[in-house]
Amino acid sequence: MEDLSPKPGDLEHIETASRDELSALQLERMKWSLRHAYDNVPFYRQSFDKAGVHPDDIKQLSDLSKFPFTVKQDLRDNYPFGMFAVPQAQISRLHASSGTTGQPTVVGYTKNDLDMWANVMARSLRAAGLRPGHVLHNAYGYGLFTGGLGVHGGAEKMGLTVVPVSGGMTQRQVRVIEDFHADGITVTPSYALSILDEYAAQGRDPRDSPLKVGIFGAEPWTNAMRREIEEAFDMHAVDIYGLSEVIGPGVANECVETKDGLHVWEDHFYPEVIDPTTGEVLPDGELGELVFTSLSKEAFPIIRYRTRDLTRLLPGSARSMRRMEKVTGRSDDMIILRGVNVFPTQIEEQLMTVTPLAPHFQIELSRPGRMDEMTVHVELVEDMPAEARDAAARDLRGKVKSNVGISVTVKVAEPGQVARSEGKAVRLIDNRPKAE
Ligand code: DLL
Repeated sequence: MEDLSPKPGDLEHIETASRDELSALQLERMKWSLRHAYDNVPFYRQSFDKAGVHPDDIKQLSDLSKFPFTVKQDLRDNYPFGMFAVPQAQISRLHASSGTTGQPTVVGYTKNDLDMWANVMARSLRAAGLRPGHVLHNAYGYGLFTGGLGVHGGAEKMGLTVVPVSGGMTQRQVRVIEDFHADGITVTPSYALSILDEYAAQGRDPRDSPLKVGIFGAEPWTNAMRREIEEAFDMHAVDIYGLSEVIGPGVANECVETKDGLHVWEDHFYPEVIDPTTGEVLPDGELGELVFTSLSKEAFPIIRYRTRDLTRLLPGSARSMRRMEKVTGRSDDMIILRGVNVFPTQIEEQLMTVTPLAPHFQIELSRPGRMDEMTVHVELVEDMPAEARDAAARDLRGKVKSNVGISVTVKVAEPGQVARSEGKAVRLIDNRPKAE
């Protein structure tokens, strides 16, 4: 793999500034952001007033903990534009969540917001090792989803040649990567696996591809998956994190030279980790729910937004900004199976160690009797005799039992039978009877 470490002069000043300088900037911006939200969004005025707090109460960064949280339901209640802090005519762009689980949530950006987003996104792409002149194959979906256009803005801003291929038409993805000599690819990790399959289908060796780095996010993935993808493509794989409510992709990104968690661009997005049950702020290093406050956003300021993503904050390493540990699950994805908490990524981790099985999987929950049961649907890398298939199923079942602590049924299908994603993978199918 190529050395993509930054050279002197590649980074912005703030990326290596002292903690004191960073904190001073955060405090100044936090005061502005809370005041801006309070003055311009009725929801925040009411929620601060109700909690008996006022933007003037912010004297130091930790005073933020006195302010109330914002949750997804608040955004739904204010659908579509109720959370905006500027008149609609000043909104340059709208994005929205898919709304598969209820009312969609809508976010808006002023021209300045789009510019800030492009900056943090460019910073992310640079952290991943890309430099002006490189070709970026952007396979995140374009449209209301923030992935495609969000990455695109940063790529143009930093001087990449961006190929706006979006998701889907997998055969063409391979051809475009090869013919346009992509140096980098931005895509969900699950769709990267579909592209990998397509290389095999076309009889091409992915290790001969021009790709130097893949920037994977929008869904959880494990370090075991990183090793698999890095090995298969002979390229670096780094993690990118973000969410629409905060800005989109580019809230945090891993540095290619360390790959030790994602640096949160905390000069614009202030992170806290809280105990999800009590709401209490936890010290850095402890595992809990990630909460964000925007520090510079105009159109859609967001104060103490509960992401439901579980992680911990760690000190800066390659950059001054703190890191967040890889998000391996959100509280919504947690399955409680007969009293044991399980995240789909824990199954992924075990699956990666069973060589005859491909990395694609889906988890099905059912309740044939009184107890919940979990079936893990996987597939073979290539056709095999029945005994070898049974052995692979036993192997996975045993590893899940001893390392995750649950008993599951493993169903091994022929190659290509597990549903593929073109964006965010659907990992869980819940066939349990709904509560009356
Ligand atoms: O997924 C933004 C994005 C696009 C991020 C492209 C990275 C790359 P939403 O659709 O609003 O926005 O979904 C946000 O996706 O709260 C996490 O649960 C999950 N997520 C995003 N990035 C990661 C990641 C985009 N790197 C939700 N690891 C978040 C784990 C992630 N989960």
